[in-house]
Amino acid sequence: MSGAWINGSVVLIGAKGMLGGELASVLRDRLGDRADQLLHRFDLDLNICDARAVSAKLTALKPSVVINAAAYTNVDGCESDEAQALAVNATGVENLAAACVAVDATLVHIGTDFVFDGTSTRPYRPDDAVNPLSAYGRTKLAGEQALLASGCRYLLVRTSWLFGLLGKNFVEAILARAESGSPLTVVTDQVGCPTLACDLAEAIAALLDAGATGTVHFCNAESCTWHGFATEIVRLGGFDVAVAAMTSDALDRPAVRPAYSVLDTTSFTKWTGTTPRPWRDALADYMGQRQTRRVSAESIGRVP
Ligand SMILES: NC(=O)c1ccc[n+]([C@@H]2O[C@H](COP(=O)([O-])OP(=O)(O)OC[C@H]3O[C@@H](n4cnc5c(N)ncnc54)[C@H](OP(=O)(O)O)[C@@H]3O)[C@@H](O)[C@H]2O)c1
Repeated sequence: MSGAWINGSVVLIGAKGMLGGELASVLRDRLGDRADQLLHRFDLDLNICDARAVSAKLTALKPSVVINAAAYTNVDGCESDEAQALAVNATGVENLAAACVAVDATLVHIGTDFVFDGTSTRPYRPDDAVNPLSAYGRTKLAGEQALLASGCRYLLVRTSWLFGLLGKNFVEAILARAESGSPLTVVTDQVGCPTLACDLAEAIAALLDAGATGTVHFCNAESCTWHGFATEIVRLGGFDVAVAAMTSDALDRPAVRPAYSVLDTTSFTKWTGTTPRPWRDALADYMGQRQTRRVSAESIGRVP
């Protein structure tokens, strides 16, 4: 185990999610044979909207670190269910932060590129002005604000365009369409950085090793459009399928997405001395691992 952060136990919330599942693996590796004793994983069995339950659990476990990978992540769903999204993405964070203050734990929380409005002409830095365009972005921003207002010792890691084997994700959606021979049409007017969930999980552990606090941006390096991402997925999947281009307006989804949400990861490099790898390398790894890891994920019921 490296780093001085695990002096007590670690509580991981949202452990069955796409990122949470990867964090569970990374933390288990870090803790080695002490993992059973020190790592406490929760998902919907600890509803973060229930302040009393959160307080009672953290008071009993007295963790040194709490990692919150739970969220209401259905971006379009948030538009018609903003109250519930706010409960999870803001009140849930407020509850965790208050309980962390009471037990003197550090709260690691995950933020999103969707707090930005996409009008920047350079990658977004942690202290750039926020202006969310969607209900999801507003509720996630409210969570950030609750975290900062709590006085809690925190690490806020904003990320973007997550894909991983343990959740519904864009890569599998594109591969499924390509396999079925369905036409593929993908938007060209949103630019961002795809980020492999297990790279983010490792990055969070590295930030904890470095004693990082405050707000940090992490995503895989180099940017693309969703169309560019899909084209590479199809190529690596070995399909001879054309990917047609469309605009976000034509797609007409309920939530407005930022046209540009590339994150500047200098803050991550300052803390860890490392730089994220390009998303193409991460995608190539994902494609290589998806067969073997999918079998083990299926055996524990985590494949969507
Ligand atoms: N996915 C992305 O592209 C993306 C991009 C930027 C930032 N992020 C952020 O990254 C973090 C992880 O995202 P993810 O995609 O891994 O999320 P995810 O796969 O949707 O996982 C979230 C987990 O939280 C659980 N959960 C929901 N409400 C809860 C509650 N009230 N109490 C306890 N657990 C609850 C969910 O359970 P159920 O599934 O059963 O509801 C799920 O297991 C989130 O903070 C998200 O906002 C994600």
